[in-house]
Amino acid sequence: MQEHRLISAQALGEEEINDTSLRPLRLAEYIGQDKVKENLEVFIAAAKSRGESLDHVLLSGPPGLGKTTLATIMAHEMSSSIRRTSGPAIERPGDLAAILTNLEPGDVLFIDEIHRLNRSIEEIMYPAMEDFAIDIVIGKGPAARTLQIDLPPFTLIAATTRPGLLSSPLRDRFGINCRLDFYSEEDLSRIIARAASILGISIDKSGAGEIARCSRGTPRVANRLLKRVRDYALVRGSGIIDGDTAVKSLTMLEIDNYGLDTVDRMILDAIISKFGGGPVGLDTLAACISEETDTLTDVYEPYLLKLGFIHKTPRGRVATEQAYRVMGYPAQGRLEESSLFEE
Ligand code: ADE
Repeated sequence: MQEHRLISAQALGEEEINDTSLRPLRLAEYIGQDKVKENLEVFIAAAKSRGESLDHVLLSGPPGLGKTTLATIMAHEMSSSIRRTSGPAIERPGDLAAILTNLEPGDVLFIDEIHRLNRSIEEIMYPAMEDFAIDIVIGKGPAARTLQIDLPPFTLIAATTRPGLLSSPLRDRFGINCRLDFYSEEDLSRIIARAASILGISIDKSGAGEIARCSRGTPRVANRLLKRVRDYALVRGSGIIDGDTAVKSLTMLEIDNYGLDTVDRMILDAIISKFGGGPVGLDTLAACISEETDTLTDVYEPYLLKLGFIHKTPRGRVATEQAYRVMGYPAQGRLEESSLFEE
């Protein structure tokens, strides 16, 4: 499904590598997330002036908002090396012990998707984060001995799309907690203009604005759409991305004004037409559109919630009046009224 991939906020392998050229290396070049940026500026400057490593940082928020980029920037600003891994990649306690014991003083360890770290492995992190030490058990049964290994001071930067899934002992050990939110259209326009200039793409203000409007508040989506619109401008237009070219290209890609794709529309359509507007349970909804429940909660739901197209209730997801309008259904209230009149 082409359009599914196009607006997915998930990084798609090779793209992750290509996009490093677009990633800012300094906080000053990072656009948007002003509150987070302001706080990090202070914490980084303070840690540097004390000659210490930065406190552990938890970055949370929907996919594609720049958690990895921010981690790289923090390491760069601290003049530290960064080691990257992810929760699912750490399968055994020994994997984590090996990573930790190989750190150099002041290193940044970036763990993506920390909420997917196994609980028994997670426990190794507690003394590592708090005391820069790990306890290793040698031998089995009554002969088992615990050996403490000291670690160099390091900064753990962890990213998660699901902060609620972290155990409280782990969450409490992060001194800095940053929540990234969807970007405004203005910030996305600036990100698109910056990426266009790095990639040598000609784009005007209205072209960037049109792409920004369809980017789901997500830089990763914006940069991906920019490349596709560039292709369209090259083949069907003058090579320059103006508003008109951007609109035609986005229409061809079947991306609507809100950046909704077929899966988003399937979700709204299912809630409205199959479940009378809801409430419908998450698992039922996921099964209905043949998606994983996690994909629904991590990728699709946050943006639909932000747009105000769905609400979460204790009994499930509900489509709002706005969703009815966008999907071309008569408004919910009016439906109820008319059925009253018919009676
Ligand atoms: N590229 C992706 N995200 C960005 C951001 N927040 N600022 C600048 N360039 C970016």
